[in-house]
Amino acid sequence: MKLEIINSQIEAGQKGLQVFKKAIQQGAQVFGLATGSTPISIYDAITQSDLDFTKFISINLDEYKGLSNDHPESYHYFMNKYFFSKKPFAHSYMPNGLANDLKSETKHYDQIINDNPIDLQILGIGRNGHIGFNEPGTSFKSQTHIVNLTDNTIQANSRFFDSIDQVPKQAVSMGIASIMKSKEILIAAYGKEKAQAVKEFIEGPVTEDVPASILQKHPKVTVILDQDAAALLSKK
Ligand code: GLP
Repeated sequence: MKLEIINSQIEAGQKGLQVFKKAIQQGAQVFGLATGSTPISIYDAITQSDLDFTKFISINLDEYKGLSNDHPESYHYFMNKYFFSKKPFAHSYMPNGLANDLKSETKHYDQIINDNPIDLQILGIGRNGHIGFNEPGTSFKSQTHIVNLTDNTIQANSRFFDSIDQVPKQAVSMGIASIMKSKEILIAAYGKEKAQAVKEFIEGPVTEDVPASILQKHPKVTVILDQDAAALLSKK
């Protein structure tokens, strides 16, 4: 893993932009995208750059169950706001959390991922080490699946909702096996509340209890951290 410790969100954005630029120079055409507060500075840098995505494809990691696309906390809304309205793709895929048959939606999404192998996947990390919405205990062999969100994640994500009761209890998420198939991964984490998860995923054992720890086995990962998130690492 290549570790980049940054001192500001602007710097994080620029580092992320460089990773995207290099991947595109090397032929990347399919981008796995993430939501959450972490990727915002990277998306800001990208959308202010001269990069053009109109011939490329994006595939998002996850979506809540049951939120309409125009709900301000849906991941569809987030992606339009921070990325697609500024830099459109030829096609952007996101899981449909409103599908009547969510099980067949997961199969459909796996087909999309298989037909469009991801060149560069961007990830954040949950406080409990989750990636996408793959909570601790999720099989490393998982493909797209319906997730019961943990109390920890519901609590963490409630800061975006008016009350905790409004946070959906389920989501559809790309699986860990699908994430690991990406040619390259860029993961970022900021703030002291991520420090424990960062230490465990980089320096701890590879275990399904810490979903992000599987990234130790991926051949091409860049990790962008601020000082707080990196605080518990023994090697920097
Ligand atoms: C959610 C998303 C993840 C994201 C995580 C952390 O659970 N499904 O993809 O990495 O939140 O979010 P944040 O970056 O806001 O800390």
